[in-house]
Amino acid sequence: MSAPAATERRRSIVTRLTLRDKALERRVLRRLDQVEIRLLECTREVDDPRLATVVGHLIAAGGKRVRPLLTLLGAEFGDAWAEGVVEAAVFSELVHTASLHHDDVMDEALVRHGVTSVNACWGNRVAVRSGNWLLAKAARLSAGLTGESAPLRAEASQRLVQGQLRELVGPALPEDRLPHYFDVISDKSASLISLSLRLGAVQAGAPAQVSDALAEYGEQLGMAFQISDDVLDVASPSADLGKEQGKDLAVGVAGLPALLVLEGVGAEDDELRALLSEPAGLRGGRHARALALLQRSEAMGRARALMDERLARARAVLTSLPPGPARQALDALCDFVGTRTA
Ligand code: FPP
Ligand code: MG
Repeated sequence: MSAPAATERRRSIVTRLTLRDKALERRVLRRLDQVEIRLLECTREVDDPRLATVVGHLIAAGGKRVRPLLTLLGAEFGDAWAEGVVEAAVFSELVHTASLHHDDVMDEALVRHGVTSVNACWGNRVAVRSGNWLLAKAARLSAGLTGESAPLRAEASQRLVQGQLRELVGPALPEDRLPHYFDVISDKSASLISLSLRLGAVQAGAPAQVSDALAEYGEQLGMAFQISDDVLDVASPSADLGKEQGKDLAVGVAGLPALLVLEGVGAEDDELRALLSEPAGLRGGRHARALALLQRSEAMGRARALMDERLARARAVLTSLPPGPARQALDALCDFVGTRTA
């Protein structure tokens, strides 16, 4: 992805939120630009340019920067200009990017953020080590953040890895599949999204009840975000996703729509159930067939309803926060997650 396209992707979420408060919009866009500069600086803090290219590959490709945006919005509930707020936002994105380096190895992904994945460019061993480098960089950066957030950062990092481990190990019993799925996505996705918000609030000195509420909002938004990711994996073309469509089916990971089919949603889906029951994943014509069946399955609607349920919970938490432009922005983010196509 070209640099202007990456910039556009990042800025477009903020502009799509249609914030009523234009001062907030300008402030957040300006600070996101600062985050971007810091992120790129971080990846260049290595003396060998070949290493800098590897650790900076996905950062330069440009993601949506949802987590830094959340940190900046969390900080709006305190002193948004407090020292370390931008660094906290950078921390969130570095940890996220590190997790993508690892995730793409596990999924044998070829494309991420619209570019060839790190593993596909340089191999699994380099992708894992460069992911570790980004994680270590994030840890080093976080040494400058308020000590109050240290246990929160540690806990979220543990949950992130734990979520991936849970996904690998699978449910203990077939009947545990749905609760297990929700545990997985809570750990692997919602934990960092929740932390991103809370980190901004804590760094900005917001009251504890506000940062607690933001963390709970983030947990619910994060669950919805991961469900939408699972739905989009089935519904959106690769060109929009910036990654391969139907990857969950290819690697034998049951995203929520597939899981609901296996749980019996859509009585007529026997052929699909048989395809989805193959643990090694699907390739070629069988992959295409499963994707087509899943796209028109009842389970897609049910998955979207479960996402909407989480968004409603997130919105309910917002009512306990002080009203104002930042709260409106978080409400608009629920709309964004519920309607996103990429
Ligand atoms: C994407 O999920 C990946 C995650 C949400 C986190 C994965 C976590 C790890 C790999 C643990 C290791 C973490 C660190 C920090 C070293 P997905 O595969 O459902 O979504 P995708 O479609 O974007 O790949
Ligand atoms: Mg993946």
